[in-house]
Amino acid sequence: MSASPDQERWNRRHSLQAPSFRVSPLVSQLRAINPPDGPVLEIACGTSGSALEFAREGRRVVAVDVSDVALNHLAAEAARLGVTDFIEFVEADAAAHSFTPRHFAIVLATFFWDAAAFEHACNAVAPDGALGWQALASPVAGSRWRVPHGHLSAALPGDFGAVSEFEGGAGPHAWTCLLARRFG
Ligand SMILES: C[S@@+](CC[C@H](N)C(=O)[O-])C[C@H]1O[C@@H](n2cnc3c(N)ncnc32)[C@H](O)[C@@H]1O
Repeated sequence: MSASPDQERWNRRHSLQAPSFRVSPLVSQLRAINPPDGPVLEIACGTSGSALEFAREGRRVVAVDVSDVALNHLAAEAARLGVTDFIEFVEADAAAHSFTPRHFAIVLATFFWDAAAFEHACNAVAPDGALGWQALASPVAGSRWRVPHGHLSAALPGDFGAVSEFEGGAGPHAWTCLLARRFG
């Protein structure tokens, strides 16, 4: 993939920041709604520990990010944890990349927003599968990287139902989060 301005920007950030490998609370929230067995797709995974956590429970995971620096950090941690065989690392712009349709038992993204990527993510959820999406919140529509609370459920295709939608954080760190299910 040739470097896009987005990739260069995120590579710089991931080179400067120590990877956290923090498991998002969304992982346990997704587990709590009993998704079916099957593979997981994490979009804009960065160096989150969520992909690693699902791999540790034996699920196949596709971890996608535009930043090869982030993916290299994640791959090194996966090797350290002995879960490399469970994770496929995909360097891609999630806004321009379509994923295997109706294939993933769980699709998630945390602290990321892109309308086209959200549409691709929904298409990738298997029947009866679960979608978890958390994004920084904006008080108004039209922000490039943020969405107003309530927007995520409104953007769901018709064959999905929202399980819950909640918000948290404050000020510039305010976020909105959706758990949803594709009808079987
Ligand atoms: C704020 S970080 C969140 C990372 C991770 N999800 C977490 O919660 O720790 C946003 C991530 O989105 C990735 N990203 C930005 N634009 C992207 C795109 N168009 N396609 C795929 N990944 C992208 C960045 O490289 C970065 O890892």
